[in-house]
Amino acid sequence: GKVAVLMGGASNEREVSLMSGGGVLNALRARGVDAHAFDPAQSDLGELKSHGYARCFIALHGRHGEDGTVQGALELLGIPYTGPGVMASAVAMDKIMTKRLWRADGLPTPDWRLVASADETAQAFRDLGAPMIVKPSREGSTLGLTKVTSIGQCEQAYRAAARLDPEVLCEQFIDGDETTCPVLGQGGGATALPVIRIVAPEGNYDYQNKYFTDVTQYHCPSGLPAEEEERIQQLVVQCFRSLACRGWARADIMVRASDRQPFLLEINTSPGMTGHSLVPMSARAAGISYEDLCLRILADASL
Ligand code: DAL
Ligand code: MG
Repeated sequence: GKVAVLMGGASNEREVSLMSGGGVLNALRARGVDAHAFDPAQSDLGELKSHGYARCFIALHGRHGEDGTVQGALELLGIPYTGPGVMASAVAMDKIMTKRLWRADGLPTPDWRLVASADETAQAFRDLGAPMIVKPSREGSTLGLTKVTSIGQCEQAYRAAARLDPEVLCEQFIDGDETTCPVLGQGGGATALPVIRIVAPEGNYDYQNKYFTDVTQYHCPSGLPAEEEERIQQLVVQCFRSLACRGWARADIMVRASDRQPFLLEINTSPGMTGHSLVPMSARAAGISYEDLCLRILADASL
């Protein structure tokens, strides 16, 4: 049957989603899937039903796409969709909720504070120490993120994050290797793909360096010792299952330089599929082409 590739949307990551969706659309068509672009910012989701779509590939990022709302609408319409369900999507979009659940499950994540003002941000800085990451709880692609190294930066950092989300997260910065690792499957069948180690100029893997420059280095194979790579892979499968994810996702992990302890930062339930994106890169290292990856994600579409 017909497949709708949901792309665009009204979130701050619209531009990224259009790149992801374009890639997915071409890949599915190249493999003979009757796939069509569908932008929920331009058409009512109810039209998916009247136009006879059998399944949806969700290539939306951020709010109203990755956060359980679109997933809930598709549940009501009875149209199977890719990636995690309503609850896992909603929790994973919210970095604070995610960290609470991981901590409850004994999974390592950097210490944090939820703050509601510049003053509370300064207090968090005194508690957590420097450097500290200030970011919106429910955003993506490092939008609104500041690495704070002095108390004087707290006010501006708070404002930059609060502009995008009233829920602002202050998080201890982990100095070490920045890594990311995708998971495919579900439940006991969830498996990790190869770990990617990211080396950005001056450690600044920001929006620009994620999508629009070629100055970031990606190492896959990661170059980490085999036992470290395995530890990260085990951890990402645990964190995926901890939130009851299914289908696919990509978790971001920092490995602390001093003792090689991995820390979970967040899990992305509709990861980027752009030409610069990480899940396709990891899949390729595992011998899975971009087209096969898209087919595999689509095959797991469910309600
Ligand atoms: N939020 C972006 C799309 C990612 O995690 O890949
Ligand atoms: Mg993210």
